[in-house]
Amino acid sequence: MTEAALEPVRLADYRVPAFLIDTVHLDIRLERTQTRIVSALTLRRNPQSTETEALKLDGDSLVFEEAWLDGVSLPSEAYSVSPNGFSLHQPPAEPFTLAIETRLDPSANTQLMGLYRSNSAYCTQCEAEGFRRITYFLDRPDVLAVYTTRIEASFQEAPVLLANGNRIEHGTLEGGRHYAVWHDPFPKPSYLFAMVAGDLAMMADSFTTRSGRQVRLEIYVEHGKEDRCAYAMDSLKRSMRWDEEAFGREYDLDIFMIVAVSDFNMGAMENKGLNIFNDKYVLALPQTATDSDFAAVEAIIAHEYFHNWTGNRITCRDWFQLCLKEGLTVFRDQEFSSDQRSRPVKRINDVKLLRSQQFSEDGGPLAHPVRPEIYNEINNFYTATVYEKGAEVVRMLKTLIGDEAFAAGMDLYFQRHDGQAVTIEDFLTCFAEASRRDLGQFMLWYKQSGTPEIRAEGRWDEQAGTYHLSLKQILPPTPGQPNKQPMLFPIRLGLVGEEGDLPVTLDGKPFDGLVALAESERNYVFGNVRQAPVPSLLRGFSAPVKLTIALDEEALLTLLKADSDPFNRWQASQSYALKLLLRLVKNPATPVDPRFIAAVRGLLAAGAADPAFTALSLALPSETDIAREIGSDVDPRAVYQARSILRQTLARKLQAELLHTIEIMTVPGPYSPQAADAGRRSLRNGALDLVCAGGTSQALDAATAQFDNADNMTDEMAALATLALSATPAGERALRNFRQRYDDDPLVIDKWMGVQAMLPLEATLDRVKELMHDPAFSLQNPNRVRALIGTFCSANQTQFNRPDGEGYRFVADIILAIDPKNPQLAARLLVAFKTWRSLEQGRRTLAAATLRDIARRPGLSRDVADIAQRSLA
Ligand code: ARG
Ligand code: ZN
Repeated sequence: MTEAALEPVRLADYRVPAFLIDTVHLDIRLERTQTRIVSALTLRRNPQSTETEALKLDGDSLVFEEAWLDGVSLPSEAYSVSPNGFSLHQPPAEPFTLAIETRLDPSANTQLMGLYRSNSAYCTQCEAEGFRRITYFLDRPDVLAVYTTRIEASFQEAPVLLANGNRIEHGTLEGGRHYAVWHDPFPKPSYLFAMVAGDLAMMADSFTTRSGRQVRLEIYVEHGKEDRCAYAMDSLKRSMRWDEEAFGREYDLDIFMIVAVSDFNMGAMENKGLNIFNDKYVLALPQTATDSDFAAVEAIIAHEYFHNWTGNRITCRDWFQLCLKEGLTVFRDQEFSSDQRSRPVKRINDVKLLRSQQFSEDGGPLAHPVRPEIYNEINNFYTATVYEKGAEVVRMLKTLIGDEAFAAGMDLYFQRHDGQAVTIEDFLTCFAEASRRDLGQFMLWYKQSGTPEIRAEGRWDEQAGTYHLSLKQILPPTPGQPNKQPMLFPIRLGLVGEEGDLPVTLDGKPFDGLVALAESERNYVFGNVRQAPVPSLLRGFSAPVKLTIALDEEALLTLLKADSDPFNRWQASQSYALKLLLRLVKNPATPVDPRFIAAVRGLLAAGAADPAFTALSLALPSETDIAREIGSDVDPRAVYQARSILRQTLARKLQAELLHTIEIMTVPGPYSPQAADAGRRSLRNGALDLVCAGGTSQALDAATAQFDNADNMTDEMAALATLALSATPAGERALRNFRQRYDDDPLVIDKWMGVQAMLPLEATLDRVKELMHDPAFSLQNPNRVRALIGTFCSANQTQFNRPDGEGYRFVADIILAIDPKNPQLAARLLVAFKTWRSLEQGRRTLAAATLRDIARRPGLSRDVADIAQRSLA
């Protein structure tokens, strides 16, 4: 059996659409298994297109009924039609109306793309190419039309009928049915279409824009969950205010709606005026959601809302430009969260995510540019590279041209391209004009894949009072890109002495803290350096690179103590720990450097000043961080062991200090998800987690007490995870209790599943298999699958990578079982194999065999075939 041939789409083949659609009238008659759609399109030839051929509409698995041209039923020889396309052989030269009737079965739609049912509600997901599963259309983002949507359904089944825009009409019909008509005045691409119908509860509020317009806000959820949307509503209002203040962007419709559904492939979707969310990112109560859940709700509500301008008002010309809206919108939501919470803490968390998700993608077979130039399946490009590295690129742009020019460039972008579908080049041109800079070299960030390495070397000349810094860029080869051109890096830096930053000069002027490295290699000579400095490079992680610099322990301790940049103070703690961990991987008997223990003791002693920051500094680099640092021939077992040894040592040497931290880091008053309180909880729980690694009864008793007395999910979950990891009867008891407490709450049971899937124990694989039979589990629901299977393969390095290959085989079987029903979900799971080449030979061989077995199966979805083939290439 050979691999399926995939037909790639290439950026170079982009052509403007041959036809334009000005208006769309959709008439949707909802029935559970027999929904009827009539779509009436007003079409005309695109004056910018030279193509003269037939009109070809996209379709996917549609059942065709009838078509009308300008109101007259079309004879069958006038068109050809299949489930996957419709063409009109001789379209009129003048504008015309084409109406097409199709039927579909929402209940049978398990892909969760197009129109489907989630529990008892009907909903849609159209990005990227789901609209063609609803009706035949020019399903591409550069065809912008004005939509009017009429929905008709049984009143009893679906009292709520929603679509984009404003509701302009509604009424009752015979036979217990009713209808609503919605009109969205803003032209939009089909991927932003949405419709929801069902028996849903609603929470309403309002927002007054800065120009004084009243906007009605509505959040729809399943009955009984109304009390869980207050935080989402609050986050929405703060997002609306922030976008006015930070970017001058006001909301544009009279109503903004959010619907939470429990079956959703991704996080959420920015449909115009009608965002549809994975309920996980809407529902949050102190008793059911952790601090990180609250932060994620806030960030994703903001992200989808911000898309209204960066994505909806200005959209993408084609799907290669996905980062135009995603990278920019992630940047915007990161800035929002930074302003709402602690900027350094947010930055550190974002960089942790970037390194763990994006660097590992960029260093493996699935590496691709932020703006890819070829794809087999666009759904596989909603990646950490497009989103997170895409956001980093926007951040670097701002750093390089400065805040003012960046703001002016954004204003120009909004003004010049409102209502258009544009490209990365259009975006960058706005900033080139605003800053009067040539951004040609900067464009390489969108084109060249792989994580660049910056190699730094420094030398202090005591006599001359100078410091010589050489920076070199190394651009590793990546799939399809063996050779690369030098890129442009904004590098924030400072020289640090015992008392803090030294007031140095560069080129005779006071140094402002930023250099732009454009060459393969460059030397900088800093003046006025009166004492031996420690270079603090890449402050704030000013570029998404791997920095290599030889800093000894003393230098790291200086940075840890005296660096004015909080990011690099945190980085120093991580670099120090990583040094020790790498030694322990090589030799588990290596004694732990007492200076490190003393440094951690110092962190704890000063912890109260900034608990969230201290918690981050206290946390050791993850197993994947260590593996990435090792780079090749990784033995996940040895990595895990090294980390355990360091944790045990710290726990034993610092037990008293850790227990004291747990005691003083209490949070007075009722729970609030606010950053200050969350920070105290994170330090308390970080200390708890670490002290329990020592395994003493004192430590485990503290965890049990916290589990029994917690009044919020953050503390309860932290105690549960710690106890479960201890693999003691106390852990078993906690797991049993937790399961009973939250029996009726799927999102909380997901956490319980995840905790168990993560355990670095031999028995975990069998446990995961067993949990698949838990009545709360379902292979049909993406959240359930991600909580159990996704956690197992992405957050359990030792057990997914079992030396006998059983972890791989188990996950492969599940992927193959899910693929026929939900290819996107299956393909996402398969991405867990992305670092297989860096494993030691035994596991590498087993992982490769599993991937090959998947790739050879007949009838794979394009999604899974694409990931399997690229992983093996
Ligand atoms: N645009 C959504 C977001 O805000 C993601 C939707 C992706 N959907 C998909 N089927 N790939 O990030
Ligand atoms: Zn997005």
